[in-house]
Amino acid sequence: MPKVAVLTGAGISAESGIPTFRGKDGLWKRFKPEELATPEAFFRNPKLVWEWYDYRRQLIARAEPNEGHKILARMERELPDFTLITQNVDGLHQKAGSEKVIELHGNIWKVRCLSCGAEYYDYRAPLPEIPPRCKHCGGLVRPGVVWFGEPLPPEALEQAFNAARESDYFIVVGTSAVVYPAAQLPFVAKEYGATVIEVNPEETPVTRIADLSLREKASTGLKKVYEMLKEHAQG
Ligand code: OAD
Repeated sequence: MPKVAVLTGAGISAESGIPTFRGKDGLWKRFKPEELATPEAFFRNPKLVWEWYDYRRQLIARAEPNEGHKILARMERELPDFTLITQNVDGLHQKAGSEKVIELHGNIWKVRCLSCGAEYYDYRAPLPEIPPRCKHCGGLVRPGVVWFGEPLPPEALEQAFNAARESDYFIVVGTSAVVYPAAQLPFVAKEYGATVIEVNPEETPVTRIADLSLREKASTGLKKVYEMLKEHAQG
């Protein structure tokens, strides 16, 4: 049975109506990451940063998983050795039924208290108070996501690199593959002998090392990948 690992990025949620970061309608065309997605920005203006996260939480709350998310949930159920790694914070993989998701950049529904350190999920959207306060101690909470300049959660990172090294198939879906260290994963997988498959309507830095590039949307591209893996598994 092949070992399969998948890395997803914002592109897999595009068909659910959630804007990506780069590209012509990307969030980083309209907003500046250094004003919204860094620890400095948060300490300068927690209200502004929380307003932006509250806006995104409301968008995500209305979104439903699409065929792409659903096929990956099916792969997890049907393939004995399957790892899903995501850079997304939207939780749509879990909503589609994926049970084990390695979240490299955290989760937008999580909050972390800067006073008492409590970490918990808060699904309210819109938030009744901005910035929100810790439900335990009343301290200032921050979004449970990774910002630019911050390290990734070490356990998630280790699991992701292990999966990349051990995989027979490494599938890269809907990421521009420019944000490190996540962007390194396909290259590590390739170096350790995996067949690398890319699903993306656009070329990315992964294209040049990919064994197969499907220039299409996540939903249709992943359907083809699923059929291929099923054929492989049946020998
Ligand atoms: P990007 O916005 O950089 O890239 C999205 C990718 O999805 C692009 O390569 C698009 O071509 C592709 N795409 C668009 N629609 C698609 C579809 N329907 N199916 C498949 N692919 C599609 O998003 P990420 O690569 O996820 O980090 O960005 C990486 C990180 O940068 C994010 O996690 C976030 C951001 O700043 C942090 O916030 C730390």
